[in-house]
Amino acid sequence: MTRRPPTPFVPFISGTGRTLQNLVRSIESGALNARICQVVASRECPGIEWARAQGLPAVVHNAVIPRDDLAELMADSGAEWGVLAGYTRLLDLPDLWQSRFVNIHPALLPSFGGPGWYGDRVHRGVLEAGCKVSGCTVHLCDSTYDTGPILAQRCCPVLDDDTPETLARRVFELECELYPEVLERLFSGRVSIEAGRARIIPA
Ligand code: GRF
Repeated sequence: MTRRPPTPFVPFISGTGRTLQNLVRSIESGALNARICQVVASRECPGIEWARAQGLPAVVHNAVIPRDDLAELMADSGAEWGVLAGYTRLLDLPDLWQSRFVNIHPALLPSFGGPGWYGDRVHRGVLEAGCKVSGCTVHLCDSTYDTGPILAQRCCPVLDDDTPETLARRVFELECELYPEVLERLFSGRVSIEAGRARIIPA
């Protein structure tokens, strides 16, 4: 069977770029059959510096990207998907790109998601609520925070002596496995959404 051509996508970042680096590693290892056509950052950050150092086309948009500009950026880049990788700004998605953007969140949505729920705040919230499990969620984006149809989730235990930092580390390890796996399935399949429930159907 011939392998499909690498799926072009645009990662959106705001911070360290660890998620982006993990995706690049997955591409290099062959686990993710994809290519990055453009990196977009919401500000100057270590992630965009890293992207530039790798020779990836990188651009910073300091303010909310107007819908038409986003449509143009995606079309010009030749991307088929937008992949949020630690992007903290809300995107105003053009109609054509609804259900064509994916995000990963460091908790089991719909809990601990929405405006203000990012970074260590998420893990602190999980500990304060006394949860015994946490994890991560990959979901399609709509134009609000953390609310599109869920594609996949993976859980880990919350330990009695966890701090936000130790929990964050455990969840991030799960993210590094789950995100490339789901993206590979997504890029080689189709998504069906019925009554808010998303399914990836093999092509
Ligand atoms: C991760 O926790 C991810 O769930 C969230 O952003 C964090 C990664 O950001 N979306 P970064 O890759 O360290 O910049």
